[in-house]
Amino acid sequence: PTKQQLLYEGKAKKIYATDAPGVLWVEYKDSATAFNGGKKATIAGKGRLNNEISSLLFLKLREAGIANHFLEKLSPTEQLVQQVTIIPLEVVVRNVVAGSLAKRIGLAEGTPLEAPLVEFYYKNDDLGDPLLVEDHIAILKLASREEIDQLKREALKVNDVLGAHFAERKVRLIDFKLEFGRTADGAIVLADEISPDTCRLWDADTNEKLDKDVFRRDLGSLTEAYEVILQRLGGESACT
Ligand code: C5P
Repeated sequence: PTKQQLLYEGKAKKIYATDAPGVLWVEYKDSATAFNGGKKATIAGKGRLNNEISSLLFLKLREAGIANHFLEKLSPTEQLVQQVTIIPLEVVVRNVVAGSLAKRIGLAEGTPLEAPLVEFYYKNDDLGDPLLVEDHIAILKLASREEIDQLKREALKVNDVLGAHFAERKVRLIDFKLEFGRTADGAIVLADEISPDTCRLWDADTNEKLDKDVFRRDLGSLTEAYEVILQRLGGESACT
């Protein structure tokens, strides 16, 4: 396919149309944002790292039978994906207390959860992406009850597959955010990206943070942390 007009520019990615029906061209940008756009930076190499990592993880999930929008990596910073209509929900799965859960319920960051927790947040910048209960999702008509159950089941499957995959590579999957979309025929598939921007990943031996908290909390070099994740996943390093 060839790249056509820009359809959408978000905080971390640009989405272009292509001449192939139902196929979009995604370009990962070198920008980092946190706190609903309150903190911003340009970080050279971040787009490549997230494109490489997200491509590897979507392929891994496909192998495990989890349908997703990923089609093909085109270049270090670009990939082709299936066009879907994104459901404006952030589906968060947590294995260990961190981030907003620590703030919300007062347990210390690092406390393991006995069972994975699934949460839904409303993708709405004006509202600051609030936590939703299932009745809110129904009132807003974002998804049916059956679809909510499906989203939860899929999110927990992703957690099983990625949790085991990272564990084999000495990385703890603390929590992560997923987005889903509807295809033209109404099927729900996993979409967006899965990267250290959207996951909390801690080194299994040292609990060193290898994810976007490095940027959020000024803990050091984001690209060094993401490079560790890419290498452990078997990806290509920039410097050889
Ligand atoms: O901030 P919070 O603790 O709720 O984040 C949970 C997980 O979801 C983290 O891995 C975070 O990186 C991810 N997340 C995200 N995009 C958001 C909010 C959270 O990728 N808008």
